[in-house]
Amino acid sequence: MTMLVVANWKMHGTRTMAETLLESIAKPAADVVNAGGTVVICPPFTLIDRLAQGFGNAAFGWGGQDCHVNTQGAHTGDVAAAMLKDCGAGWVILGHSERRADHAETNAGIATKVKAAHGAGLRIILCVGETLAERESGNAEAIVLSQLAAAYQPYVDAVAYEPVWAIGTGKVAQITDIEAMHRSIRGAIAPSTQVLYGGSVKAANAKEILATHGVDGVLVGGASLQQNEFNAILHAALSQQI
Ligand code: 13P
Repeated sequence: MTMLVVANWKMHGTRTMAETLLESIAKPAADVVNAGGTVVICPPFTLIDRLAQGFGNAAFGWGGQDCHVNTQGAHTGDVAAAMLKDCGAGWVILGHSERRADHAETNAGIATKVKAAHGAGLRIILCVGETLAERESGNAEAIVLSQLAAAYQPYVDAVAYEPVWAIGTGKVAQITDIEAMHRSIRGAIAPSTQVLYGGSVKAANAKEILATHGVDGVLVGGASLQQNEFNAILHAALSQQI
């Protein structure tokens, strides 16, 4: 099985830090790619152009963490999908729960972004996931399926299941819950779309998560900024592929 490993650096990264980190993970990333997998780094917008040029021969794909619905215009602070593409990105993360929370992104708005990103030729990672309250009230599956129903299109490359309560908290969903949710997601999407898990993925749990039935890869936040942690995650992905 081929794995998709995505690093979401969020609002972290300066030029020196980024280059040092990428140099140290280039070899294990190349191993994953040579075995048929894909490694995508999603730095802040400010770094994409420089890193895509500097590491152009490396195994990495590059992605943005968001894009605007419009192709251009008077939208202070925003970035269009075509601009991401222009500076070397091939991918974009859309619908991340931090954007849903911090920028009041709605399912309808995310659906529009999915179309805009596709129009610009970007590959899309669409994030879905329930809050703790939604899980505790027994609505996790219904919420995730409603997020998919609103924004998913068959051309979306990957759906990332990221339970909101597992992001940055060190709490990981139970393997049985990951398996069950991935089965539900799989039932609602095209066979060509990969299903990723995200939420406190780290060296200590990557192997078990990546070995879980229905998990085609991982979307990694905090641990993707630490050389040893991310190396171990890449290694776990490689061992699933050979
Ligand atoms: P953490 O890996 O830091 O929990 O973040 C997950 C995430 O939000 C990836 O998009």
